[in-house]
Amino acid sequence: MVYSRDFFELQLDFARTVAALFEMPVDRALLDYTNFYIRFGLARDFDPCHPVWRLYVDGLTRTSDICDWTYRFYLAQVADSRTSATVPETGCFSYAMQDAECVRIHFRNAESTATSPLSRERLPARLAELRSLFGDVKRNRQLVTRVVGTSWLYHLPAYQRCFPAAYVASARVAQPRYRHVSLWGQFLDRHGSLRLGAVQDFKKRLSKLANVRDLALAFPLQALAVEAPIAAFYTFYGIQPDC
Ligand SMILES: CC(C)(COP(=O)(O)OP(=O)(O)OC[C@H]1O[C@@H](n2cnc3c(N)ncnc32)[C@H](O)[C@@H]1OP(=O)(O)O)[C@@H](O)C(=O)NCCC(=O)NCCS
Repeated sequence: MVYSRDFFELQLDFARTVAALFEMPVDRALLDYTNFYIRFGLARDFDPCHPVWRLYVDGLTRTSDICDWTYRFYLAQVADSRTSATVPETGCFSYAMQDAECVRIHFRNAESTATSPLSRERLPARLAELRSLFGDVKRNRQLVTRVVGTSWLYHLPAYQRCFPAAYVASARVAQPRYRHVSLWGQFLDRHGSLRLGAVQDFKKRLSKLANVRDLALAFPLQALAVEAPIAAFYTFYGIQPDC
């Protein structure tokens, strides 16, 4: 899915606000408080000296329209924007190895249908994808004992129903995920356009911020961290012990 220009503008405005609040350079705020680095396909080490990031930052000083420059830069990078840490995807889901014993679940809309990938109608498809994904884990990642996830999505009953109850019940508010779509994704609809109600709420909260320490609370939904033993997933998706 190609994200809309508005999604970048929203984050750009936030980075400018943060730069003013914390008296930091805008390029630093763009690195630490937006999802740009990942969207440019630069993985997750957030290296301010990465040559592609430097190219982007250098361009900021040469343009009269930062949003336009940012979006053009994103579109040019988008073909390479998948991180190599994630294994082949199963529809909307993928996993990455956090370490030898732990898998981390990721979600993105990989559907081209008009309906929401989280709709009840598409639930069987989501469950089939997860069954396939965890079958792959069982076959190829025998040391795995734990599954983790972090996302705003764990607030949604429509997402929760894809996972074992123990995993959902473990939810705790995570540290603010300013660099990740696990926080910013709440402003997107399935087409990559902005969800206007959520954006309005965000801007209102941001304008009323009384204390910079409460910056994370400007986001209507916080990212939640979840975790459960792998056995709970094998049971939930009906994956046989000898699979
Ligand atoms: C997840 C995603 C596909 C949902 O978009 P969508 O399909 O257009 O969403 P819909 O409006 O059809 O809503 C689907 C359900 O989620 C709920 N929902 C969606 N966004 C919401 C939000 N920001 N706040 C509250 N509820 C929300 C809806 O109320 C609906 O619930 P219901 O079926 O119980 O009524 C879209 O937000 C997305 O692609 N986000 C980016 C991916 C992402 O965030 N990944 C996280 C990586 S960790």
